[in-house]
Amino acid sequence: MMDTKILKTTENDIKTAGEIIRGGGLVAFPTETVYGLGASAYDADAAKKIYKAKGRPSDNPLIVHVCDKAQIEEVAREIPENALRAIEKFMPGPITVILKKRDTIPDDVTAGLDTVAVRCPDNETARMLISAAGVPIAAPSANISGKPSPTNSKHVINDMTGRIDAIINGGNCRVGVESTIVDFSSDKPVILRPGGVTYDALREAGIDVVTDKNIFQSVSENEAPKCPGMKYKHYAPDAEVTVVEGEKDAVQNKIKELIEENKGKIIGVLAMYGAEYDDAVILAAGETNKEYAKNLFSALREFDELGVEIVFAEFCERDGYGPAVKNRLYKAAAQRVIHV
Ligand code: TXA
Ligand code: MG
Repeated sequence: MMDTKILKTTENDIKTAGEIIRGGGLVAFPTETVYGLGASAYDADAAKKIYKAKGRPSDNPLIVHVCDKAQIEEVAREIPENALRAIEKFMPGPITVILKKRDTIPDDVTAGLDTVAVRCPDNETARMLISAAGVPIAAPSANISGKPSPTNSKHVINDMTGRIDAIINGGNCRVGVESTIVDFSSDKPVILRPGGVTYDALREAGIDVVTDKNIFQSVSENEAPKCPGMKYKHYAPDAEVTVVEGEKDAVQNKIKELIEENKGKIIGVLAMYGAEYDDAVILAAGETNKEYAKNLFSALREFDELGVEIVFAEFCERDGYGPAVKNRLYKAAAQRVIHV
């Protein structure tokens, strides 16, 4: 077990955190999406430490975080027209672009791929940290592999204490689900993971993007997904999650039936439509998909803390955040989805 420092977002503490990263250590830090677990993107050994701390399979590459647009050129060797447009319009912000990588980025960061995922967060602490480190920061989400991503410092402290050098306590994350990943490394830009920058926003910016077919379904055993993370079961709480998708009355009636069928178990409901149920622990998802995104991971963790064994999640696609929520929710539910 290592001694994990808890740092604040003061200039002094961020400087300390930057020194830890430059020295080959690991620091968890807030971003606007979820907390990241950072190491120098130029340090292969530090990248190995990230995989170990998370228990992450080493064939799943990391995102490289930069402090400004200019730093992208230090890590990518080619930025196509479409990608430039996305960078101009949405960075800093909750988007990650896949580009052809430079040799400065070691194979341990990209899991041997010829491309690199690049993101410039719009969280000030995150950008100050990258500047203080003086190097781009490779960072996956700061959860133990397979657990819901951390959206506040308590989640990170629970998962990472004793495993990393420091955690910067930067409060709650604004978006709550990870960045939209867009692959610009081949002819047509493809959304590999939906997030805070929506499909419509990308189209409106003149980017002729399509969505990968695998974002709402599991990748079959013998298929090589474009985004290695797709093939892993993610975001799974200890409780068994089932999504019940549809309009209010139908969803609530179905969940009441399911609660009846599962009597004797500790049941939780993640509620979009309001607290309608007896004999269940109810957590609010929020009425919009945007609120749902912000609450989802935190609620999944809370159900576990409360000892909930079965979760029924009310869901309906309502706004641009719909695909982002659906992607995480279906994974958390291991594709157990009831359409009503
Ligand atoms: O919002 C976010 O993106 C957060 C914060 C911390 O920035 N980070 C994050 O990282 O979600 P992670 O490691 O949990 O997810 C990164 C995903 C993985 O599914 C990985 O397979 C994919 O990005 N990825 C990374 N590099 C890639 C590449 N070169 N090509 C395709 N997919 C890549
Ligand atoms: Mg992750």
